[in-house]
Amino acid sequence: MGLQGPKTAAWFARAKEALVNGVSSGWRNWGDDDTLVITRGEGAYLYDADGRRYIDFHNGFGPVILGHGHHAVTEAVAQAMADGTTFAFTQRREVEAAETVKRAVPWVEQLRFTNTGTEATMHAIRLARGFTGRDVIVKFEGNYHGAHDYVLYSTPSSPVDALGSRFRPIPSPTTSGIPDPVVTFVRTLPFNDLDAARRLFADEGRRIAAVLVEPMLGNVMGIEPVPGFLEGLRELCDEHGTVLVFDEVKTGFRIAVGGAAEVYGVVPDLACFAKALGNGVPVAAIAGRGPVLDGWRQGGIAQMGTYCGNGVAVAAAQATVAELLAGDHLAHLERVGGDLMAGTAKILAARGVPSRVLGRPAMFGFYLGEGTPNDYRATDDHDEELYERLTMGMIRRGVLPNPDALEPWFPNAALTDEDVATTLMVFEEALDEALGA
Ligand SMILES: Cc1ncc(COP(=O)(O)O)c(C=O)c1O
Repeated sequence: MGLQGPKTAAWFARAKEALVNGVSSGWRNWGDDDTLVITRGEGAYLYDADGRRYIDFHNGFGPVILGHGHHAVTEAVAQAMADGTTFAFTQRREVEAAETVKRAVPWVEQLRFTNTGTEATMHAIRLARGFTGRDVIVKFEGNYHGAHDYVLYSTPSSPVDALGSRFRPIPSPTTSGIPDPVVTFVRTLPFNDLDAARRLFADEGRRIAAVLVEPMLGNVMGIEPVPGFLEGLRELCDEHGTVLVFDEVKTGFRIAVGGAAEVYGVVPDLACFAKALGNGVPVAAIAGRGPVLDGWRQGGIAQMGTYCGNGVAVAAAQATVAELLAGDHLAHLERVGGDLMAGTAKILAARGVPSRVLGRPAMFGFYLGEGTPNDYRATDDHDEELYERLTMGMIRRGVLPNPDALEPWFPNAALTDEDVATTLMVFEEALDEALGA
């Protein structure tokens, strides 16, 4: 039995006529019977075309932090629309939003707004290359940095057995269509393996423009950095004149208002923000400190875009970050997310399912297997069939995480204690069903 009710099925049939495979982004097609068509979101809930309600832990792959349709963001965006959105001049809201981001993330000296995480990482890489005069970038296995060519290697879509030895990792392309020579500019490393990073820098340090890293794995179950790993990357970059770029697209304004740099106490040279920055409205930023920003200030390194800093985007950013700074949204999320992590861990343990609940309350994931994975390679033994049966059973009961365990749960701050209780009850029922108990 698929997830679609009759109206959803009819809408998806229409979608497939008009949109390629019925979607506007590859990963949204869950198959002919299971792809949902959503009519609206409100607070912690989504409603599909059949009017079925879901407690939403997908939250659009993470952006929705305050809740769907949050009044502060809705009002700010409506006003910005009414005032006209795109002028190709600096606008008042853009300045206010940049100032607010700086208040939230105090290490940031200056930033530029752009529209998506993909654009942000693309610009950060070019800035690092233009500033250092070097070509090579380093990324970590299982990290996802968007849809442009340089970063589509060894992502969570790459099979673990294509990654080579951890002593000499092979960058594995995620897609056809990337010109072969691009790989010569990319090095991949296992996350949390500082020795591997040291070996690479010993060989090639003078060629490496940037180390690009998700400081906590927002695309692999919420795996966290082991103590000393981010610090070690910081030292290596300092020693070799390499730009350290944190991809905070998923962690920023979510795991803390100051993101992963605040939580783990390591400060990058550049950070890319998106997702929770706009509570679901497309807006992103490349933020930085120190001399690397001179690369832009002094000209000659391109960064541009018609919609960068448009009124709607920056109004959403201003409203979202101001709400996060003023309210107790993230403290609430810490509490309800913590209850969910503890509650689900207890249910799994009571049934003897080997498992770890990984990550942090605002972004956590499930590894169903022995031991504790510290990198993408180590998640290969995860019982994905059990996880899929569990999560599909949950979705049928009105609680919606992504059935791909690599994708963490992203609760939003509208979640109530009652929603937590419902989720735990549904988790338990669906787990028993999945185990055939
Ligand atoms: C860590 C990370 N960086 C970058 C991106 C790309 O962002 P966007 O989809 O807005 O282009 C994503 C998207 O999921 C992401 O998770």
